[in-house]
Amino acid sequence: MTSTTTSIPVFAPEFVFGTATAAYQIEGAAQEGGRGPSIWDTYSHTPGATEYGDTGDVACDHYHRWPEDVQILRDLGVDSYRLSISWPRVQPGGAGAFNEEGIAFYRTLLDALRAAGIEPVVTLYHWDLPQELEDAGGWTNRDTAYAFAEYARRMAQELGERVEVWTTLNEPWCSAYLGYASGVHAPGRTDPAAALAAVHHLNLAHGLAVRAIREVLPQARCSVTLNLHVIQPEDPTSAEDRDAVRQIDGVANRAFTGPMLEGAYPADLLADTAAVSDWSFVLDGDVELIHQPLDNLGVNYYSTTMVRRSSAADDTSENAGHRASSTSPWVGADRVSFVQEPGPYTAMGWNIKPSGLTWLLTDLAARYPDLPLYVTENGAAFDDVVTQETGADGEVVAAVHDPLRVAYLHDHIAAVADAIAAGADVRGYYAWSLLDNFEWGWGYARRFGLVRVDYDTLERTWKDSARWYRNLVATRRLPG
Ligand code: NOJ
Repeated sequence: MTSTTTSIPVFAPEFVFGTATAAYQIEGAAQEGGRGPSIWDTYSHTPGATEYGDTGDVACDHYHRWPEDVQILRDLGVDSYRLSISWPRVQPGGAGAFNEEGIAFYRTLLDALRAAGIEPVVTLYHWDLPQELEDAGGWTNRDTAYAFAEYARRMAQELGERVEVWTTLNEPWCSAYLGYASGVHAPGRTDPAAALAAVHHLNLAHGLAVRAIREVLPQARCSVTLNLHVIQPEDPTSAEDRDAVRQIDGVANRAFTGPMLEGAYPADLLADTAAVSDWSFVLDGDVELIHQPLDNLGVNYYSTTMVRRSSAADDTSENAGHRASSTSPWVGADRVSFVQEPGPYTAMGWNIKPSGLTWLLTDLAARYPDLPLYVTENGAAFDDVVTQETGADGEVVAAVHDPLRVAYLHDHIAAVADAIAAGADVRGYYAWSLLDNFEWGWGYARRFGLVRVDYDTLERTWKDSARWYRNLVATRRLPG
């Protein structure tokens, strides 16, 4: 809850402020501690796949520097930290033997977080599929969903005393469509039919994993994090443009919320994609399995999408922020064009529109009134500049003045306050990201961190945004 007695939003003490990261983006130590290869190791080592050929081999070296990172979290004063477990670190082949050394890494890290008074929120799948599973078809293979559930069960057994909130998947839209349709994410496939099979098997993996976690930990709080697209018609008076919105909403959003939250795939999605797939991979009983009760929903929000109905496949200016690709992630949407949104933009080329977050949260609250919401990611990449300045005691220190990131965070947290004031049950906000890190296809060329990472020295430097966030967390008041 927020108080609106003044123009400055005040967040209640129980509102959770956190930061988020993901294993492949920060850990490094790709070949240490018994870790197996993931699809992102393979993909990032493929010439031309990532900007400058960057890989996550070292990343932020969090695997070795985690004590320093936990100390940063402690100094930020955050209530919670959202991290992901690297599946190939704890189960190198994705099926079969588990790796005790990998599990021990997370046990130690989780203990340190708890000792620091920081509530961990664990994501089980933030895109690093064990390569052996991909070799057997990856998310196009139903067996991957069963393998994921066994991995989830084992993590619940091993880490259940340390973790209360479990998130199955992060942004399955990206895993399915960017991984298997446009190919700008690992495993880099460009097969629209495969992407739809991946959508379903990711959904199935979610349902099976929630069930497995609850069998081990009846008190666990289970969730999933979705990047729901806020889609607007170019011309709101045009029925054709509004129908394009419906179509993209189906393939991007309702393909996940339908089975997960409502127990059915939308009929219009199946019709829109009929030329691509007959969806015969959906077996009897699957949607019931996927439709598990959830304790909360995680929402990642960065920007908005605008579409119009086109007469032909004259696409597009879209995929802002996904590296240029000749193949569209928008399966079955040949007659939709993506319209460049008005600025301002972040360094990803994504438009900045805080009101979209208010709209998304209030819309979800209206549709799923009993489902508490968390903003599990929100943040911005900008071209940070490091300056050398003289500190209070005369020593020269590095500084990063990032007013654009501060403004972005401010305006989006205000948008969350607006949603709460309008009645949405939003319980927390996680800034993406704690650290600059491996931004997938963009490698290290895009920086989202509150804390800068120098990739030569691996030194961490607080940006102004980190200090600003620390102040917000401490005071619960969003300065004007
Ligand atoms: C969403 C993803 O979950 C995260 O891994 C990524 O770095 C951010 N968005 C920014 O693109």
